[in-house]
Amino acid sequence: MTSFYLSKPYEPPQAPQNLPLNTPWALFGGISPDQFMKQYWHKKPLLVRGAIPAFALCSQNQESLDSPISYEELVRFANKEEVESRLIRSSPWRFDQGPFEKNVIPALNKPNWTLLLQGMDAHHPAAKKILSWFRFIPDARLDDLMVSVAGIGGGVGPHFDSYDVFLIQMSGRRKWRISAQKNLSLNPNLPLKILQKFKYEQEWILEPGDMLYLPPHIAHDGIALDAGCQTWSVGFRSPSFKELLQEGLWRLAESLEDLPELDRKFADPKQNATNVAEQLPAELIEQLKQQLSRLKLDQIDRFLPGITAYLSEPKQQALFDSPAPPLSPKSFLSKLGTLGISAHPQTRILSLGQRVFCNGDEMTKDQPSEITKAWVSLSANKYLKVKNLKKIDKSSLYEAYLAGWLIFEKEPARWI
Ligand code: SIN
Ligand code: CO
Repeated sequence: MTSFYLSKPYEPPQAPQNLPLNTPWALFGGISPDQFMKQYWHKKPLLVRGAIPAFALCSQNQESLDSPISYEELVRFANKEEVESRLIRSSPWRFDQGPFEKNVIPALNKPNWTLLLQGMDAHHPAAKKILSWFRFIPDARLDDLMVSVAGIGGGVGPHFDSYDVFLIQMSGRRKWRISAQKNLSLNPNLPLKILQKFKYEQEWILEPGDMLYLPPHIAHDGIALDAGCQTWSVGFRSPSFKELLQEGLWRLAESLEDLPELDRKFADPKQNATNVAEQLPAELIEQLKQQLSRLKLDQIDRFLPGITAYLSEPKQQALFDSPAPPLSPKSFLSKLGTLGISAHPQTRILSLGQRVFCNGDEMTKDQPSEITKAWVSLSANKYLKVKNLKKIDKSSLYEAYLAGWLIFEKEPARWI
């Protein structure tokens, strides 16, 4: 008798507000996020069979689960300007950047291609829900969720990444080969970052629901074994110190605008007659030294606001539409108390103590305490429902709504 399988899309649950950090998770093969961070994060790979138990449970019941996003939907996403997409063909290696017309993406039954769609958490609720489970890692580190879909044999070739990655198998099977090899030199003759030599040390076939965690610089190669193989990768950001300090420094320089006392002009009533006129005057150096020590430029707290603002900047492709027509401040307030507001999927919000930065701007600057409190809560929960705010019309909360950075939506149903 042939068994009859019904296929339905997996519906990932939204993570609870307070993630249980000390209890075992199936996602990590029965260890807690606390243990995962101590033993594996940034240290060594972890293969988890049945990381999403729903896939195995369903197949026990003669049902089969598939990815929450179909191949056809992914092809439609690849056609959009606001979705960063890449198409990689593997024999011979060829790389193209989207958006792509529908007929450019190979059919599912064709071999040796893969389509990569970056930032899918901003475009599909299921991807956003998957990402919510990784919020035991700071928002400042989390980058996005990339979805890959491939024909048999498809992959991006043996390579390494400079960041941590969780590779979740969502549809079909993929063969992963990994190596901790020291030689990470790239083949200079290819349009892709592919290792010149790849000598794998371990190999696994991942089934839907399995997950592989890789720390940075572990060489890896994933080859699709089934048509329509989908891997969802949760990726992280690891800016260099140069980037962080440069961004922090120029924002710090800009913030000097807010100090009117610095408009005072340099004066040198104590300047003596000199016969080394070409030298920068000692008097100027002395006065600058005093200014610098007053500004406490050697202290980390001076840099952190600029660095937080930088890390809260949205991705380059992010597009925000202002609400049309916008609600009046009064209707805004009433909806805030009944429905509640969330961050637009492309909005980034980060906190530095009680200061909150959204899409590159400080939202708590010169705001009444009730607005600051609202932002602190919005940043922590990514959702805000509050009644009776008083001074809303010129507030940064209302302005962020007008800019399309915040959108009205019901609080997502949570798992617990
Ligand atoms: C893929 O999903 O095909 C590639 C992901 C990766 O290797 O980082
Ligand atoms: Co990779």
